[in-house]
Amino acid sequence: MTQTTNYPVPESFKDSWMSEEKYQELYRYSLENPEAFWGSKAERYLDWYRPWDSVYEGDFKKCEVSWFKGGKLNASFNCIDRHLENRADQVAIIWEGDTPDLQRKITYQEIHDEVCKLANGLKAQGVNKGDRVCIYMPMVPEAVYAMLACARIGAVHSVVFGGFSPHSLRDRILDCGCRAVITADEGVRGGKHIPLKQNTDEALKECPDVTTVVVYERTGAEIEWREGRDISYKALTTSQSSICEPEVMESEDPLFILYTSGSTGKPKGVLHSTAGYLLYTTVTFHYVFDYHEGDIYWCGADVGWITGHSYIVYGPLSNGATMVMHEGVPFWPDAARIWEIVDRHQVNILYTAPTAIRALMAKGDEYVKRTSRASLKILGTVGEPINPEAWQWYYRSVGEERCPIIDSWWQTETGGMMITPLPGATALKPGFATLPFLGIRPAILDHDGNEIVGPGQGSLVITGSWPSQIRTVYGNHQRIVDTYFSQHPGYYFTGDGARRDENGYYQITGRMDDVINVAGHRLGTAEIESALVLHEAIAEAAVVGVPHRVKGESVYAFITPMDGVEITDDLKQELSNLVASEIGSFARPEILHPCPALPKTRSGKIMRRILRKLAQGERDNLGDLSTLADPTVIKHLLDQA
Ligand code: WT7
Repeated sequence: MTQTTNYPVPESFKDSWMSEEKYQELYRYSLENPEAFWGSKAERYLDWYRPWDSVYEGDFKKCEVSWFKGGKLNASFNCIDRHLENRADQVAIIWEGDTPDLQRKITYQEIHDEVCKLANGLKAQGVNKGDRVCIYMPMVPEAVYAMLACARIGAVHSVVFGGFSPHSLRDRILDCGCRAVITADEGVRGGKHIPLKQNTDEALKECPDVTTVVVYERTGAEIEWREGRDISYKALTTSQSSICEPEVMESEDPLFILYTSGSTGKPKGVLHSTAGYLLYTTVTFHYVFDYHEGDIYWCGADVGWITGHSYIVYGPLSNGATMVMHEGVPFWPDAARIWEIVDRHQVNILYTAPTAIRALMAKGDEYVKRTSRASLKILGTVGEPINPEAWQWYYRSVGEERCPIIDSWWQTETGGMMITPLPGATALKPGFATLPFLGIRPAILDHDGNEIVGPGQGSLVITGSWPSQIRTVYGNHQRIVDTYFSQHPGYYFTGDGARRDENGYYQITGRMDDVINVAGHRLGTAEIESALVLHEAIAEAAVVGVPHRVKGESVYAFITPMDGVEITDDLKQELSNLVASEIGSFARPEILHPCPALPKTRSGKIMRRILRKLAQGERDNLGDLSTLADPTVIKHLLDQA
C-alpha cells in the first residue's frame, strides 16, 4: 500500500471543540451508549417546551424510527428567539447580492420580526399547521424567512431550487399537495434574470389547489398578478405584527420535504422531522466547522438543496452564527468574486462544492492571489468526490496550507454530515472523507452483502439510526423501504461505493446506482430518459454519466430514433431544450449519441455497463457480452462512435 501523505492537525486547532483523543473517546461512547449520548446533546443544544420520554424507539429495518418521542419544541424558536436575549443585535445574515454593490446586513432581531410578520401573513392566508408550502425563491434573505415562517406555524416547507423548470415545479407541488407558493418576481444570477413568477404561473396552470402565491419583488420586473391568488410579499407582511407565538411541535412532526432524484421513477419527497433533524444539523455544524463565537461562516450552496437547508438555514442559525449569503455565482463579475467576498466580510469558514473549486482552479491562480484570504481558517467541500488535484489546489492556493480541508460526505436522506474530518481531531488525506461523525456507524459490504472488516472496497451502508435520518418518502413509505432498506436487509444503503484504508478512513468512490452527479446536482438517469422519449422522433433513450473535468460528471445520452427519422443537429437542439423544459437547464445532455438500437439482455434490460464504457470511448474492453440479446447492436454502436 502506498502511504499517501497525511496532513496532521495544525497547531492552531489545538483549542478546537474536539481533539483527536476526545474524538476517539466520544465516538466509542456514542456507539456504545447512543441514547445517553444523543440525550445529553439534545439537552445541551436545543430548547424544549417539554422534554422527551424516550430518546430513540423504532424499527430501523422498516424505517419506522422516532427520536425524542414526547418532546415538544419549535425549530424557528431554536433558530431565532432563544438567541435574542444575548445576540438580538448580532448580525445573522450578511447578504451579498449578484453584484458587489448590493449588500444587506440582518440581525437576529430583524430575522425575528420578519419571520413573525410573514408567519402571521401566511396564517391570514389560511395556511395552517401541517399544510405544505412550496418555496421557489432566489438566494435572498426572504427565502430563509419563508422557511422559518413555515417552521414557526408548523407548516411543512418544500423548497424547489430556482433552476428547476415549470414542469418540475408543478410535479413537486402536486406530489405533496402544496396549497401556497412563496416565490419572487425574478431571480438574479450572474447578471441573468430568472423568471420565477412566470415559471410559477406556468406550473400552476395544472395545480388547482394552490390558493395563495406570495411574490417577493426582487427586481420589480413586470409580471402578471392573478386577482385573488397572488399577493406581494410586502403587502402581505407590512401591516402584520412582529410577534407570532411559535407553534408547539412534536419531535416527530414533519419539518420539511425536499425532492431528490433516485435511480428509478420520479424524484422522491424526502421527509425530515423536527427534533432529530434540528439536533443533528446543530451539533454537526458546531463540531465540523468548529464554530466559535464571532466566526464568519459562508456556505456557497443554494437553499434549494439539502446543503442549504442544513448548513445555510438550520445548522448555522440554531447555533446563533453569523453567515454570508450570496445571491450570485462564483464567476460574476469575474473569477475572483468568491475571494473578494471572503476578504470583504472576513470569512473564516468556507463551505463549497468540488465543481466550483475545479472551475476556479481552471482559471489559474491569478484571481486568487489578487486577494488576501488571511481570515480563512477552515475550507469545506461537499456534494461529490473531490479529486486530489482539486483538493491540493484548495489546500495550497486558496488556504495557503493553513486551513484543513473538510471533505464532508452526506446526502439529502441523511440530513446532515455523516463522514467528515473534524478540524482539530482528524489528520487529513486528500480524496478521503475520513472518519464517521459521532454516533454514526458506517460499514462496507462485499458482493454477498457481508460486512468487510478492515481495509476494503464495496457498498457503503449505515448500520443503525441517527437523529436526522430520512423518515419517509412523502406519500409512499414503501418506496423508502424498497429504495434504501431492501438491498441489504437491516442496513441503510446509501447508493454510494466506498473504500476503507488501514486507518479506517473512508474514501467515497461514487454512486453505484443510476444516479449521476452533474456539477453537484443530483440527477436520475430515468428522469432524463423520460424527458427524451417525450419527443415523437425518439423511440428509446439510455442515459449514463461520464467523467467531466469540471462538472465531475456530465450527461451522455444514447438515443434511438423512430423508424425513418434522421437525427439532425436541429433535432438534437430540440431534445436538449426538451430536457431543459422538463427538468431544468442543468440537466441538458452534453452528448446525444444516436444509435439504431440499445444493447439489452435477453430479458430486455438495458446493459448500462456497456454504454458507460462506450461513452468513455472504450472500444475493446467492453466486458462480458454473453448475455447480450443481439450482438449486432454493439457493432452498430461501435461503427457510429
Ligand atoms: C450524493 C448525495 C450532501 C449534500 C449535497 C449532495 C455525493 C456528497 C460527497 C463527498 C463524495 C459525495 C454522494 C451522495 N456526495 N458529498 N464529500 N464525497 N461524494 O446531496 O444531492 O443528496 O447527493 O452526493 O454520491 O450519495 P445529494
